[in-house]
Amino acid sequence: MSGCEVFNKVILTDFLEVNRQELRGWLQDEGGCSLDWTPYLQHVCKLEGRQPSAWTEKAAKLRQVIMDIVPIDVHSPQPLALDVLPSAGADCLVSCYCLESVSPDLSAFTRALGNIGRLLRMSYYFGAHGVKIPTVPVNEAQVCASLKETGYTMIRLEVYKLPPDLNDWGDDASDVFFVKAMKE
Ligand SMILES: C[S@@+](CC[C@H](N)C(=O)[O-])C[C@H]1O[C@@H](n2cnc3c(N)ncnc32)[C@H](O)[C@@H]1O
Repeated sequence: MSGCEVFNKVILTDFLEVNRQELRGWLQDEGGCSLDWTPYLQHVCKLEGRQPSAWTEKAAKLRQVIMDIVPIDVHSPQPLALDVLPSAGADCLVSCYCLESVSPDLSAFTRALGNIGRLLRMSYYFGAHGVKIPTVPVNEAQVCASLKETGYTMIRLEVYKLPPDLNDWGDDASDVFFVKAMKE
């Protein structure tokens, strides 16, 4: 409910079709919902420092940003269908009382955490077809600061913006840089 104040695209998920149907009922706002979410919306407005009466605005905003309601299985190495998220991944995941309540033991919980973690956005490059390897995303200022911190003197730094046709090639970088530095 708070996510709709920050994100303009939200995807709801559940394992069970009956639960997804309930969410669809609320989303469509045509009386097909068996639970009254009003007190929950009011409470969240209060937590956000707003009047509980702002709940109607929040409900409208939520209905605007929820793009889809899809199946998920957190125990699968690929919890969502491939086309649900943009290829870069999601910016944020919210799991409330899900992983712990659907995992039979701690190792299943940890595996599930890893499975959903792969849905999150991370910088990457492709080592081979389908082999996505994580990288640390750095910008120019961070590279300069790291060089300085480790005792290098920068001689030259060139930054090239990748043209759009190269942008989606083997990684998610927007720029590449070449640096010449000297260790004192
Ligand atoms: C305890 S309920 C929590 C529901 C809700 N988030 C809440 O806080 O009330 C657990 C939810 O996990 C869903 N679930 C069951 N098996 C799952 C699985 N393998 N992957 C993802 N969700 C699952 C259930 O359908 C149910 O909605």
